Amino acid sequence: MDSQVLLKVENMTRRFSGLVAIKDLSFEVRKGEILGLIGPNGAGKSTTFNVVSGFFKPSEGKLAFLGEDITGMGPAQVCRRGLVRTFQHDSLLRDMTVYDNILIGTFDMIRSKPDRDSRVRETAELLGLSDVLDDIAGNLPHGLQRLVSIAIAFATRPKLLCLDEPLTGLNQTEVGSALDVFRRIRDEYASSILLVEHNMKAVMEICDRIVVLDYGVFLAEGKPEEVKQNPDVIAAYLGKRA
Ligand SMILES: Nc1ncnc2c1ncn2[C@@H]1O[C@H](COP(=O)(O)OP(=O)(O)O)[C@@H](O)[C@H]1O
Ligand SMILES: [Mg+2]
Repeated sequence: MDSQVLLKVENMTRRFSGLVAIKDLSFEVRKGEILGLIGPNGAGKSTTFNVVSGFFKPSEGKLAFLGEDITGMGPAQVCRRGLVRTFQHDSLLRDMTVYDNILIGTFDMIRSKPDRDSRVRETAELLGLSDVLDDIAGNLPHGLQRLVSIAIAFATRPKLLCLDEPLTGLNQTEVGSALDVFRRIRDEYASSILLVEHNMKAVMEICDRIVVLDYGVFLAEGKPEEVKQNPDVIAAYLGKRA
């Protein structure tokens, strides 16, 4: 096993009845990197997330995390190994406080109450949520609710944090702060991030590498500058076909 590889996706296919949402997809997430996964709407990004995080089983192919075969494992098993995801639509508990929301992320991971408390507070500090810990999550502005979703996931201290469109609906200032948080997650906590995001400016700025999907098929991979100039990628985004 390559010691730099965290998640290895090999020849993964996922079908929904007749529809092939992902076809023979292979890529890897390396330790300590922010990997962008981009592609037009319907390209299969969320399906990829659902499969790697154990919510859907792949129809074909193999998934390995830190060299261990995790193909077919459920979300809880995958989470315990250090792979956690957020959802494209918020997954927080709207009637509970921010504190209790973040606490959910610690349940499976930490036994002692004081340790859970410090994990919640440290996570809130990282996400800029310390001042709203006692607020009801559903009453917060949209931007903060997105951060609560990330806080719940990151409270588990995953080795790989998968974020599905975390910047949707954030204003420019909020996007800037979120990107700072992602960098801290990578640099201070040595967690990798798999990022699905439509905000191309942010993706190009934050990602170490990018994988491009189109109609469920691998289209390109490389550093942001390389991907940006790839004619196949440009064509896919402009809707032109050779
Ligand atoms: N649960 C599902 N059942 C049936 N089709 C699905 C399901 N989830 C996704 N799809 C289909 O798979 C394709 C890829 O969707 P998705 O992974 O959500 O794309 P993206 O996140 O890149 O926009 C789409 O054609 C979508 O309609
Ligand atoms: Mg999606």
